[in-house]
Amino acid sequence: MKGIGVGLLGFGTVGAGVFHALRNQEDVILKRTESTFEVRAVLVQNADKKRVKEVEPLITTRFDQVMDADVQVVVEAIGGIEPARTYIEQAMVAGCHIVTANKELVAKHGPELERLARNNGVQFLYEASVGGGIPVLGTLLHLLKSNRIYRVSGILNGTTNYILTRMADAGVSFDQILAEAQEKGYAEADPAADVDGFDAVYKLSILGRLAFGAHIPVPEVRRKGIRDVTAAELELIARLGYRLKLLAVGEQYGEMGPISLGVEPTLLPSSHPLASVNGVHNAIHLEGDLVQDVTLVGQGAGEKPTASAVVEDLCNLSLPVPRRSLDEDPLLLPAAES
Ligand code: NDP
Ligand code: HSE
Repeated sequence: MKGIGVGLLGFGTVGAGVFHALRNQEDVILKRTESTFEVRAVLVQNADKKRVKEVEPLITTRFDQVMDADVQVVVEAIGGIEPARTYIEQAMVAGCHIVTANKELVAKHGPELERLARNNGVQFLYEASVGGGIPVLGTLLHLLKSNRIYRVSGILNGTTNYILTRMADAGVSFDQILAEAQEKGYAEADPAADVDGFDAVYKLSILGRLAFGAHIPVPEVRRKGIRDVTAAELELIARLGYRLKLLAVGEQYGEMGPISLGVEPTLLPSSHPLASVNGVHNAIHLEGDLVQDVTLVGQGAGEKPTASAVVEDLCNLSLPVPRRSLDEDPLLLPAAES
């Protein structure tokens, strides 16, 4: 069977994770979707960097070579606005579906990219942009369609949650733990995006748009990061029976009510469910008028969980699985009259 051609933009934590996941999960993907995905070209910035040998023949620094490699889907895992945005636009116009992990781009330009995708008859999916491996966008879009969502809240950044947890529990210095988070592939290329709350703001803006149906521009989201938090403060907070978490909260009460979005360090009593969400884990609490409340918890960053979200988007592009005709499976036939 000929696989679906994938052009991979970026081969860092996420790009490499996707490359390996598509190979390692090929049998599962084939069984569930009747498709396979074949990475046909990989765009990077530095062609001289040492990579795993399986990817070496696919590496290029030219986007046009990716588009010429018989690809039907482009996975964007470069990050930032440019050149990611231009590549995505060009790929859409050329008729490729797009899957991206780029929360900054989706938060700032999501609505116009969705429009361009629609106008070109392609899909634009970005599950990995929020919550790492947690399928929260799919839950909001496909499993909570009849609910009026009035509140989304939670821990949306793995790096800062890892830092706060390790500082509180091990008393290790901020700089040392940030270096660990970078080493593990959790942090953004510029970790100030994590530490100063921008990354969580992007994610909250995306969640807010899907939950409340309105695009709130990033500068309108309140933001405070964790740069000034000290180990001594965290120790005192713990002794008083609290935990400090970088909490993102979005609210809209009443369909025409104002939408409020904000990210800030928040004290939670140790008994609060989010107080025990530790390390790189994220948690997202959704509140709606029918479902009441749902909490999703999982790994919010890192190679495998993020690859999971990207690959699930790829699998959903190829769905639905072609319908079988009734005579293919006797179990689906109506019972014979006796
Ligand atoms: P990395 O910094 O690890 O990798 C970035 C990759 O993009 C590298 O391969 C780099 O090339 C390539 N690249 C950078 N600039 C260019 C350019 N101008 N042209 C071509 N290639 C370029 O980033 P991550 O993998 O961590 O993150 C990628 C995206 O995924 C970001 O949007 C991030 O926010 C998002 N994300 C990350 C998660 C994580 O846990 N790390 C989780 C969820 C989303 P080279 O290898 O040559 O340097
Ligand atoms: N830097 C991000 C984080 C990656 O730490 O949550 C996942 O989006």
